[in-house]
Amino acid sequence: MSSNVTPIPVTDDEDLGTEAILFALPDPVMVLDDKGYVRFVNPATEQFFGAGRAYICSRTLSELVHFDSPLNALANQVREQQISVSEHGVELSTPRTGSQHVDMQGVPLSERPGWVLINLQRRSMAETMDRQLNHQGAARSVTGMAAVLAHEIKNPLSGIRGAAQLIEQNVRSDDRDLTRLICDETDRICAIVDEMDKFSDERALERGAVNIHEVLDHIRRLGENGFAKNMRFVARYDPSLPPVLGNRDKLLQALLNLVKNAAEAIGNEGGGEITLGTAYRQGVRVAVPGSRDRVNLPLEVSIQDNGKGISEELRQHLFEAFVTNKPGGTGLGLPLVAKTVRDHGGIIEFETQPKKTVFRIRLPMCPPGTPFDAVDEELT
Ligand SMILES: Nc1ncnc2c1ncn2[C@@H]1O[C@H](COP(=O)(O)OP(=O)(O)O)[C@@H](O)[C@H]1O
Ligand SMILES: [Mg+2]
Repeated sequence: MSSNVTPIPVTDDEDLGTEAILFALPDPVMVLDDKGYVRFVNPATEQFFGAGRAYICSRTLSELVHFDSPLNALANQVREQQISVSEHGVELSTPRTGSQHVDMQGVPLSERPGWVLINLQRRSMAETMDRQLNHQGAARSVTGMAAVLAHEIKNPLSGIRGAAQLIEQNVRSDDRDLTRLICDETDRICAIVDEMDKFSDERALERGAVNIHEVLDHIRRLGENGFAKNMRFVARYDPSLPPVLGNRDKLLQALLNLVKNAAEAIGNEGGGEITLGTAYRQGVRVAVPGSRDRVNLPLEVSIQDNGKGISEELRQHLFEAFVTNKPGGTGLGLPLVAKTVRDHGGIIEFETQPKKTVFRIRLPMCPPGTPFDAVDEELT
């Protein structure tokens, strides 16, 4: 910026040790020994973990982060293979400071076999929010609760509903509205519980080859004849897209949720447009948590709308359960989408501004020869 900066003379000043430099760095730097114990941290690392140096340096890395944390996997890979490894756009959770979006680098320390130097770079908040949302954990929070609710709430509810129906036969006609109300509301709660129950299904997905264009066309027809009658659908497909490795019914449900949200964001305003897109993108690889594997996710499916955009206060919690700003909304649509994408080993991300909101899902490709996943018409 300024042209008259005085060059700093090179110094061999003994006092300006490496440690002083590392301490001044705004990014976390840490050194692990061959057993995985943390042997050095700078203040930025203390801040990152929300813990002091004494606490951190008496522990192994796997005690500081979850055992299946990508940071652990990275450190192990560097140690075992004696190579430098870097990973971009990773969500790291620590018990005290929660989830942070970082780039990570690991380097072997040549003079000490098995020792690893780790450097983290925090991504900006905007990137965390808008670019790479891999909501692996979002759906999990609902899972346990849903199973309990399904049993503990539905049984008493059916009792209440039955009693209201009995009373209905003996009350004056103007009180009948009230008994109807009880029935309708209990039905509504049952529907929510059923919706939540889908989260407790932790079985591995049955997957086959899915023609995603057929699925999108099906959703478009549902929209045109029902929930999005007054809107225009645009199909922007890559016709040569190979099949997705997936479960057709689950993918259909998830994409339908996204398209319904798009239609609801547009509302009754004229000129509503929903664009269904597919694309083949090479080079989108993500780390598999807890392993050294990276999977390729070249198939992109996007749903874009020109509605009002996602409000600022919802963005951060969008994929969490019960986050909604619609009267009568459940806030369970997007968490279910996140679960489906997670079950497929894919990722979901979104960007939003007024008149342009895009949800993008990236999915794996089929190994050649995978049979097609059967169409279950009942669901649709
Ligand atoms: N395409 C979109 N445009 C604007 N807001 C959206 C969009 N998709 C989702 N949202 C916001 O996210 C919230 C949560 O969506 P979802 O989980 O499907 O629950 P619900 O549709 O029941 O409200 C919605 O209430 C809405 O505010
Ligand atoms: Mg919804």
